[in-house]
Amino acid sequence: MSKPVLFDLAGHGALAHGLATALGTEPGRIEQRRFPDGESYVRIDSPVAGRAVMLLAGLDRPDDKVLPLLFAAATARDLGAREVGLIAPYLAYMRQDARFRAVEGITSIYFARALSSAVDWLVTVDPHLHRRKSLAEIYSVPAVAMHAAPLLAEWIGGAVERPLLIGPDAESSQWVEAVARGAGAPSIVLEKQRRGDRAVDIAVPDIERWRDHTPVLVDDIVSTGRTMIETVRHLKRAGLRPPVCVAVHGVFAGDAYEALRAAGAARVITANTIHHDSNAIDVAPLIAEGVRTLTAGR
Ligand code: R5P
Repeated sequence: MSKPVLFDLAGHGALAHGLATALGTEPGRIEQRRFPDGESYVRIDSPVAGRAVMLLAGLDRPDDKVLPLLFAAATARDLGAREVGLIAPYLAYMRQDARFRAVEGITSIYFARALSSAVDWLVTVDPHLHRRKSLAEIYSVPAVAMHAAPLLAEWIGGAVERPLLIGPDAESSQWVEAVARGAGAPSIVLEKQRRGDRAVDIAVPDIERWRDHTPVLVDDIVSTGRTMIETVRHLKRAGLRPPVCVAVHGVFAGDAYEALRAAGAARVITANTIHHDSNAIDVAPLIAEGVRTLTAGR
């Protein structure tokens, strides 16, 4: 059987290369650009008829990327691809998972419907599952969520002396506790209250006993950075060492990265689910394992 074809829509060369090596895929050639009026053009230059196609898509700042992704998937299907799988290392639109005001749209559901109608399967890394337990609740195609906690734990274990893992809020406890177990390090979870898109309050309990540890803030996403920035400031005021900030997905809206460094983070580290200077943890082998699990026997 011919090799699967991997199209790198994310423009994330290193990750695409790692996946191609791990999965034995052939690189796909695709032309995507904008017409002068802003509409999208797509052309697939690699033969896909009868073959398995994988689309590697970056879905941070998703609104500009989703239509080209849907068109690429539709074109591959139209050209006879046997199946079209989506590798989305960062899965967008997972945080609006409920109606917080009576007339809001639950966009995580609408987004899931759109993707489920376009592809045959999905592999991602640590989607923001908070009020939902699994992707199957909103995605109607087979969807696998891989967990980066062991990779974060390995990085922390090798790079940080006497780490104390800190989760900024209850939602982060699932990641923090898993990473702490892997790193064999103690952990605490703080209390956060979000007052708006860019306003959060963090309550820090008595952390006197951890003064000789290096605080390591762990979260799934850094978006505006407010959660981590407020936590870094509180830890500083409490007299702890400058913390290391570790996240799976570095979305870094606006100047969030610079602001987090300026707030006093000793280091800011992310996995390469979104291409960024802070990438230090490679998820290619993890994603490849997810793809193999999902496609075995197909
Ligand atoms: C929320 O529950 C998440 O786990 C993160 O804490 C949050 O998304 C981070 O957002 P921001 O960087 O905008 O504070």
